Amino acid sequence: MTTAQTDKAGRYAALMPGLRELLRAESAFVPAVGNLLAALKEEMKWLWIGLYRVAPGNGNDREVLLLDLFQGPVACTRIGYGKGVCGTSWASGETVVVPDVHAFPGHIACSTLSRSEIVIPVIRNNQVAMVLDVDSDQADAFDETDRRYLEEVATLISDRL
Ligand code: SME
Repeated sequence: MTTAQTDKAGRYAALMPGLRELLRAESAFVPAVGNLLAALKEEMKWLWIGLYRVAPGNGNDREVLLLDLFQGPVACTRIGYGKGVCGTSWASGETVVVPDVHAFPGHIACSTLSRSEIVIPVIRNNQVAMVLDVDSDQADAFDETDRRYLEEVATLISDRL
């Protein structure tokens, strides 16, 4: 691991007990998970962090990803199955790491400041119930360390659904 990666792993490791405590301290989903997202964004200095929930669609879409709790600039409200980075993670049930958003075919640009992105599925009863989306204004901001810890965070959120 590089020094930057070791530092990042250390920041996540220091943050995780606090995130668990925020969830333990509040039984209602919105304040508990809202605070968890706020703590992550403040500590990691990301551009945007938020959740999209699989919800009934309208028109041609049976289901869509609907914007849920988030921290950061105004974002797109609905994303179709298989569309953009979020819809790709929804369709595959896998984490998607995008080092350069401009190089990702079909990337949906909610903010022109976004340079890199990671999307983690939140799985409940073997189905994707939400996706956790994080955007950075730095290129290539996300790696295996982010994947590991953010998949842990996604499990904490899933346990509250
Ligand atoms: N870039 C995402 C859209 C959501 S925003 O980044 C908040 C995508 O391509 O799915």
